[in-house]
Amino acid sequence: MAGQPIDYWKSEQLVLCHDDGVGLRAVIAINDTTLGPGLGGVRCVRYPSDSAAITEAQRLGAAMTLKNAFAGLPYGGAKSVIEAPGPEVDREALMRRFGEFVIRTGGAYIPGVDMGTSVADLQLMADAGAEVSCNQEDPSPWTAVGVAAAVRAAIEHVDQREGIDGARVLIQGAGHVGAALARDLAADGAQIILADINAARAAMVAAEVGGRAVAADEVLTTPCDVLSPCSVAKVITPQTVPALACRMLVGAANDTLSDESCAELLASRGITYVPDFISNAGGVIHIHSLRAGHDEQRLRADVLRIGSRTREVLESASGTAQTPLAVATERVRRILADARDAAAGARSSGAARREGERSLTAV
Ligand SMILES: NC(=O)c1ccc[n+]([C@@H]2O[C@H](COP(=O)([O-])OP(=O)(O)OC[C@H]3O[C@@H](n4cnc5c(N)ncnc54)[C@H](O)[C@@H]3O)[C@@H](O)[C@H]2O)c1
Repeated sequence: MAGQPIDYWKSEQLVLCHDDGVGLRAVIAINDTTLGPGLGGVRCVRYPSDSAAITEAQRLGAAMTLKNAFAGLPYGGAKSVIEAPGPEVDREALMRRFGEFVIRTGGAYIPGVDMGTSVADLQLMADAGAEVSCNQEDPSPWTAVGVAAAVRAAIEHVDQREGIDGARVLIQGAGHVGAALARDLAADGAQIILADINAARAAMVAAEVGGRAVAADEVLTTPCDVLSPCSVAKVITPQTVPALACRMLVGAANDTLSDESCAELLASRGITYVPDFISNAGGVIHIHSLRAGHDEQRLRADVLRIGSRTREVLESASGTAQTPLAVATERVRRILADARDAAAGARSSGAARREGERSLTAV
């Protein structure tokens, strides 16, 4: 956050990339590589200061650690931000140059698409020789499949019912993910309400799925069963929680909560929150599937597993005083601790074996 001191040691590795020749100022924050190389998108937006860019990269990198680990993927968490250049900058040269900085991480960072970057930008990084994801296919359709699975699981858990027929789902953002989500849930009988700052887009998708559109500034106060943030970050703040007219909150947007205290506030209002890093993992599962060479049937099954993971977390949380966010975060902490223990065990048995071999050589 602007004005707050940077915690430089929050990331496993923090890389500042700078080249005035192409107008590049970027940050790569590799948060944790316990489970594998850090996988996370490249955000290219304007920041009020360099420190705001560094803080954002670190925060987003940490969120990717949660997302990848909770989804059971063999990746750590990382994210990068490029400070959006002016129109005079040659974007191709900038993206290629950034790709060269990615190469220098030695495979510890695998970039993908995020706000302000496209499949074409990732291809430019790949052209420069970097290992990247998302340079061939947009993962959004799979993100939508995962969010839909989480929405179904939340409704079935909260209302103790099967199916989502008639449930009112308000989708904020009728973009790549939001529009696909609307179609998916409408096909299962949900009543779709759409809101977008591009009102024409919301109206078009609403008409397509037999739903209705509301104004973008009515998102929080429109009564619905599920509010699904699929546009901007930090929709839920301590100030907006009291205004909410939903019973569940399940979406695609990263960083839905402005801070963790919102999870408690939501719980105290009886609103069930599915942590965003659970519901929006379909995109990273898709990336893994492409890298691992899985077929579409396997990919679909893996993405739909977001539904069962959602159900498990909600069931665990409802049996305790913990929020779903606390339950899921604790689960990731355990996954990482177990992986570190296993790695330490493998290192010490390797050291013992080498010591044994040295003794034999000496004999
Ligand atoms: N695309 C993915 O695979 C993916 C994966 C994980 C997370 N996410 C997150 O999901 C969200 C949506 O992603 P996307 O790819 O659909 O983005 P997108 O840019 O295609 O769509 C976003 C939509 O939100 C609208 N919008 C912007 N501000 C708004 C506001 N204040 N109120 C209402 N509508 C607003 C835009 O007009 C646009 O139609 C983003 O936060 C993204 O970071 C996306």
